[in-house]
Amino acid sequence: MNILAPSILAADFAMLGEQIRTVDEAGAQYIHIDVMDGIFVPSISYGMPVIKSLRRVTDKVFDVHLMIEKPERYIGAFADCGADSITFHIEATERADEILEDIHGRGLKAGISVKPDTPVEALRGFMDRLDMILVMTVEPGFGGQAYLDFCTAKVEAARKMAEEAGRSIDVQVDGGITLDNVETALCAGANVIVAGSSVFGGDIAANTRAFLEKLRCTR
Ligand code: DX5
Ligand code: ZN
Repeated sequence: MNILAPSILAADFAMLGEQIRTVDEAGAQYIHIDVMDGIFVPSISYGMPVIKSLRRVTDKVFDVHLMIEKPERYIGAFADCGADSITFHIEATERADEILEDIHGRGLKAGISVKPDTPVEALRGFMDRLDMILVMTVEPGFGGQAYLDFCTAKVEAARKMAEEAGRSIDVQVDGGITLDNVETALCAGANVIVAGSSVFGGDIAANTRAFLEKLRCTR
């Protein structure tokens, strides 16, 4: 099944709870939560206390995307504040095996992400355990950037690797996804679609429904 994961980085933080309720009621299945530490990426976003408060707003899947250096330090903290799925960057750690074990040991789903310049091949050794591959389609760090076309081939490579693994592994795309290019990502094999500015810019409920319609129609 194709899944929409609106990225709250593009929400109006003065109305965050309300805007999450809007995407929830319009049918989005996941809430994508970008955590940035100002080291792995230049910007700083939000962390555990915000996620903990948002947990009271919705029962939808909290898909936490950690853009932080040495994510092994924080798996317990993000699990405790309500994450359902935790994705970390392969570039940010030398302890990916241990992190996957930690996430799974807490009963959560585990994803690993690759930046645009990192080949998906870097994840081959984890395909027997991974729940999701996150292919970044912009340089991580900011919302509102343009989709990098060369990443479409990486989405295809990720889907191929997932199929070869012979288990159910989600392929997520994140960055620059719009109603105009989402079909490209879906056709390349992505099934979890992150969208920030294209959902939260303008009529949030209408945007969410328009994305869900595209997600239903493709594949
Ligand atoms: C970027 C984040 C994305 C971002 C996507 O580093 O990981 O989730 O919010 O925003 P858009 O959809 O505006 O590119
Ligand atoms: Zn993200």
